[in-house]
Amino acid sequence: MTSSSPTALITGASRGLGLALARALAQRSWSLIIDARGADALEAATNELSAFTHVTAIPGDVTDSEHRKALVQAAHEAGGIDVLVNNASILGPSPQPALLDYPLDVLAEVYRTNVIAPLALIQAMRHELRPHARIINITSDAAVEPYAGWGGYGSGKAALEQLSNILAAELPEYGVYWVDPGDMRTELHQLAFPGEDISDRPLPEESVPGLLTLLAGDLPSGRYQARRLADTANDDIATAGVRELRVALTVENFEQAVAVYRDGLRLPVVKEWSAPEGRGLILGAGRGTIELLDRADAEHTDAVEAGARVAGPVRNHRAAGPCGRRAYRRRGGGRARCGSGTSGAGGAGRRAGGGVACRARRASAT
Ligand SMILES: NC(=O)c1ccc[n+]([C@@H]2O[C@H](COP(=O)([O-])OP(=O)(O)OC[C@H]3O[C@@H](n4cnc5c(N)ncnc54)[C@H](OP(=O)(O)O)[C@@H]3O)[C@@H](O)[C@H]2O)c1
Repeated sequence: MTSSSPTALITGASRGLGLALARALAQRSWSLIIDARGADALEAATNELSAFTHVTAIPGDVTDSEHRKALVQAAHEAGGIDVLVNNASILGPSPQPALLDYPLDVLAEVYRTNVIAPLALIQAMRHELRPHARIINITSDAAVEPYAGWGGYGSGKAALEQLSNILAAELPEYGVYWVDPGDMRTELHQLAFPGEDISDRPLPEESVPGLLTLLAGDLPSGRYQARRLADTANDDIATAGVRELRVALTVENFEQAVAVYRDGLRLPVVKEWSAPEGRGLILGAGRGTIELLDRADAEHTDAVEAGARVAGPVRNHRAAGPCGRRAYRRRGGGRARCGSGTSGAGGAGRRAGGGVACRARRASAT
């Protein structure tokens, strides 16, 4: 049955994070294709989700190519999918052994499930991805932190992260996200901490809003932490979507400005440069940065950046509104510029001389 509603394929959706995400999408009328090895738990999940939406449940193991073919067939019958969530994972032995003692046949099984199968599913699903589809690979902080005992699972998740990173470069037409959901009170987590009370860990439902942000927004491909994304979304409401503010000061006396801002105010140095085009220094200031540019560097920056984006892969880059009329009160003359060149603040941000430029990143309004 071709589905006109958005369709998501979520692996490992019989419990834990996969089921929590499936519930959230079902309540938003997404059609779902789900799997898990245990047929009974999958059936129970399907019965619950079917009260809200159309669900195709296919019991099976993601490491099995015949099972993956069945998932592709279901996606084809749905008219393609908008989202593929590679969520199904195994931990490996519990308790987890140190790498020197790690049984290699089990390591191969962990890699088959957590690394090879997600890629195999993406490969198999390539013709069923609708335009602008998103691929979400669920990873872990164990992919980047050297936790003793987490060498099998963690190195597999690290491999999944780098696969995702390269897929993002190779598939610019899709959003490719690799997401650390954070610690969650689930069966997998209990296996990782056998015999421990894990009741203080957040439920997987708390990681879902961050995943929904990725599905609904237009964030660039990359690595995200689900719960931080949700926090950011909340912050955005408070800050009207402004996430980051950069203030650039053109300074006549560079050394004096550095002495005041870096040494006097002790703002941390984020970056500094000295090039034939000029000198500059970026200082951290909470969720903003202050850039000190000597006049030569400022003129060079104006020449190459005028009206363009200012840094990084920013898709939803917009200039801030009236540029810091209060926040960047200026003492003398000088020019103010809000991204596109609007003359904003009257007065001047001339502390060490020169103009003020401010730009901000905004979240997508969707
Ligand atoms: N929980 C945490 O603290 C935590 C932290 C960081 C990252 N993560 C990641 O978050 C994701 C979800 O984990 P979770 O904690 O929700 O785990 P979970 O509660 O153990 O759920 C895992 C789901 O995947 C299914 N599954 C496992 N192996 C499968 C396979 N080979 N083929 C098909 N389905 C399979 C399971 O069902 P069957 O067993 O019946 O197949 C179950 O539905 C995983 O990628 C995990 O690595 C979890």
